[in-house]
Amino acid sequence: MPRGGRLTIEASNAVLDVEYADRNPGVKSGQYVLLAVSDTGVGINAANLHRVFDPFFTTKEVGKGTGLGLSMVYGFAKQSQGHVKIYSELGHGTSVKLFLPMADQPSEPLNQNPSVTIDLHGSELILLVEDDASVRGFAKSELMSFGYRVLEANNGKDALQILQLHKDIDLLFTDVIMPGGLNGRELALEALRLNPILKVMYCSGYAENAILQQSLLSRDVPLLSKPYCRLELARKIREVLLEDISVAR
Ligand SMILES: Nc1ncnc2c1ncn2[C@@H]1O[C@H](COP(=O)(O)OP(=O)(O)O)[C@@H](O)[C@H]1O
Ligand SMILES: [Mg+2]
Repeated sequence: MPRGGRLTIEASNAVLDVEYADRNPGVKSGQYVLLAVSDTGVGINAANLHRVFDPFFTTKEVGKGTGLGLSMVYGFAKQSQGHVKIYSELGHGTSVKLFLPMADQPSEPLNQNPSVTIDLHGSELILLVEDDASVRGFAKSELMSFGYRVLEANNGKDALQILQLHKDIDLLFTDVIMPGGLNGRELALEALRLNPILKVMYCSGYAENAILQQSLLSRDVPLLSKPYCRLELARKIREVLLEDISVAR
């Protein structure tokens, strides 16, 4: 909405019926929760409307758009067994509708079943590689609060030096896209050459599908999407550390 306008966010229950499902491959009929975001902006022309969910498709100039907004929305809808639909009228506005499957069970209060939760604490040595200082600071203090020992680097080259000095690092936890010549994947390859039993876990601000699309990572590697909360971080870290490495590789 370059000249301003009205943005409407709404939530409601919705039904996608069998006819709708038939016309929209991949959609299951049933009860959904609908989240809709509508604007009174410039709208999207028919040719672009087919492409807006493509990762990296943008009509904005370099530096303004990444083309990842709607591809993230799409990935999120898919991974939630949901559906996303976009309607647009050129010159009038656009409405993006996100359908998420309705839970078929009543919600349960949290912490009802503490016996099945795994212990998220550990004392392993983790090398944290992240170029964003605030994200790195957050991750470091959260990891330490769970008992881990943490070494940090803000690029791949520094990380490799640390790996050479500390052969006892248990886990490399690295961002995927970083300045300084080595991306996360390349760093991991070098690191595994130094220490073949090192565990590796990636982190990225890109949506999982965008990462896969760009061939930055393969499908089966552990990946934590930013932004993440402390429990997601702790769970994923524990999961990766407990993983049987002979199965993972
Ligand atoms: N609400 C909208 N109104 C008009 N055009 C839109 C809207 N949302 C997305 N688009 C179009 O779709 C393209 C891709 O959107 P998105 O994936 O969010 O990437 P980005 O906004 O970074 O370009 C945009 O460049 C723009 O052309
Ligand atoms: Mg956008």
